[in-house]
Amino acid sequence: MLCYFAPMEGLTGPVFRQVHHDMFPGVDRYYTPFLAPTQNHQFAPRDLREILPPAGDAVPTVPQLLTKSAPDFLWAEGQLRSMGFEEVNLNVGCPSATVVAKGKGSGLLGDLPRLTELLEGIFSGNSLPVSVKTRIGLRDSEDWEALIALYNRFPIAELTVHPRTRTELYKGDIHEDAFALCYAKSRLPLCFNGEIHSAARLRELESRYELLHACMIGRGLVANPAMVREYRGGKPLSKSELRAYHDALYAAYAEKFGAHNAMHRMKEVWICLRTMFADCERYADKIGRSKDADELLYWAGKIFAECGMKL
Ligand SMILES: Cc1cc2nc3c(=O)[nH]c(=O)nc-3n(C[C@H](O)[C@H](O)[C@H](O)COP(=O)(O)O)c2cc1C
Repeated sequence: MLCYFAPMEGLTGPVFRQVHHDMFPGVDRYYTPFLAPTQNHQFAPRDLREILPPAGDAVPTVPQLLTKSAPDFLWAEGQLRSMGFEEVNLNVGCPSATVVAKGKGSGLLGDLPRLTELLEGIFSGNSLPVSVKTRIGLRDSEDWEALIALYNRFPIAELTVHPRTRTELYKGDIHEDAFALCYAKSRLPLCFNGEIHSAARLRELESRYELLHACMIGRGLVANPAMVREYRGGKPLSKSELRAYHDALYAAYAEKFGAHNAMHRMKEVWICLRTMFADCERYADKIGRSKDADELLYWAGKIFAECGMKL
């Protein structure tokens, strides 16, 4: 079973991907946070910085596009192909209110004719394999079976399912029964995404769904960067490795964006990392309220020195 790093806006940008890949090789693909191609068919420099791997070791990267327009998708896909990317992912899951209001991301799940038209447009002109990342519905999962049938009509390279509705955002129990239904009915290579927090869970998914092509891991892999190594039989994460990863991320962010910006980025990382430590709340809350990098690094040091790691 392949293992992917999930796209996470504000977290898994190129600096993060490079540090993770250098320190914990073995993740099969890193999906970029979404790019939204515009009608004027030009990538903003900021978009290009998000997708281009930095110099050095090439990180296996798949760019993700957020759009409801087939021509815009196909334009962006052509550009990405000429840059050397080998797959493009379509976002049909983003739950943000502004995105949904524009009928993009999980907004497409509430308008099946529109989603059909988009997929028809994309698959009549694509030159790269196109994978899709989806939720199971907009407000509820009433249309899930119809959605599975709709996806089945297209040569989607891989379908990643986050088994929650748009309304459920990223919280609460996932609906594994909805994934199981898709596993039974879909003819596409499937990828499971959502609340994977251990190598044991990866093994459980692999044995429950024998034909599962891949798992995509987000917050759990930010918190335990060695999860895929452990799943493949390597050693579990140690506290000193976690510390080294933390310090390498901070150093890379500070070098690229300056200390203040690095502090903000590390706060996002700590939202995930704090789940790795027992009884760290009082220090982790101080990290969230830190006003400068020195303060953040001080409280981070306290956690590493005083709190036990949960593994
Ligand atoms: C801060 C944040 C940003 C995200 N950005 C994206 C994104 O750009 N594209 C996308 O498809 N999903 C995005 N997601 C969703 C994740 O890819 C993933 O589906 C979600 O976190 C559930 O997986 P997990 O439980 O393993 O974290 C984001 C999630 C979070 C928490």
